Amino acid sequence: MLDKIQKILDEVAAWQPKDSKELEELRIKYLSKKGAISALFNDFREVSNEQKKAVGMKLNELKNLAQDRLNELKSSLETQSETREEPDFSRSAYPVPLGTRHPLSIVRNEIVRIFQNIGFTIAEGPEIEDDWHVFSSLNFPPEHPARDMQDTFFIEQHPDIILRTHTSSVQTRVMEKAQPPIRIICPGRVYRNEAISYRAHCFFHQVEALYVDKGVSYADLLQTLEYFSKEMFGSQTKIRLRPSYFPFTEPSAELDITCNICGGKGCAFCKNTGWVEILGCGMVDPNVLENCGIDSKVYSGFALGMGVERITNLKYQVKDLRMFSENDVRFLSEFQSAY
Ligand code: DAH
Repeated sequence: MLDKIQKILDEVAAWQPKDSKELEELRIKYLSKKGAISALFNDFREVSNEQKKAVGMKLNELKNLAQDRLNELKSSLETQSETREEPDFSRSAYPVPLGTRHPLSIVRNEIVRIFQNIGFTIAEGPEIEDDWHVFSSLNFPPEHPARDMQDTFFIEQHPDIILRTHTSSVQTRVMEKAQPPIRIICPGRVYRNEAISYRAHCFFHQVEALYVDKGVSYADLLQTLEYFSKEMFGSQTKIRLRPSYFPFTEPSAELDITCNICGGKGCAFCKNTGWVEILGCGMVDPNVLENCGIDSKVYSGFALGMGVERITNLKYQVKDLRMFSENDVRFLSEFQSAY
């Protein structure tokens, strides 16, 4: 008799009903009037007097345990069915991979954010431009050798229509329409007739900044350059300016920062100089202001322009420019950003 009770005890402990229907079947099989446990109570009458105490205790233990287990399973099945959602058949059967931002977008957005924080607003202009906005207004006279600095795509039948070679054209577009104060940041794509290699491409991206107002000085330019460099490359970054030439600025300079890979000690990336060039800049040439209808005796300004690929290369050490336009997902998915 004790063995029989133990066998049922083991069965009760192993109950695993999938749903309330299966649970009800178990209840009937074990706990109903005609169930296994009632049958044992019937058999109890036949048990000898010496064994009655031990068997009786074991039987009661079985009955209580079976009842407890039934209640426990019942409530857990109830909560499961409350939380189980209806299946959504419109969902994809496979996980949907999330995209990442293009590295050039990440860096462009970061540059724009840094300038927006000091009051610059975004201005945009067309990529298909005319000679006036890309060259003439910016103090590149016809036949001037400075035009050769930028290999231009022309349209054969319309030599006046060109693909812009730099975003400086947006300076003119804005100054023609608005009077100072002007404080703009101009991100955009530019085109140059260059053979494609790891270090040159026929299209790339620039960000131009322009600030024109009464009393804008070289000190304002310097301060802005220092602020930008530290925000972009970290507070340890040092800057230096080298004199340069651009037709639309006077004086003109190129900005170097301490190499962000070796920290200025010298490495293969900075060719052991400790410095890397990041942008061109200068005080807006008075001729440019006058060309756009702004009185150069009242107003002055500074401008700067940088290549987004160049800054991205410095931040992420992408050696081959072509990677940016090949759309290789293995490369692109390495870049994560909050913007
Ligand atoms: N437009 C120049 C280029 O494409 C870059 C540049 C240099 C822009 C100096 C500027 C500047 O605004 O002041 O090479």
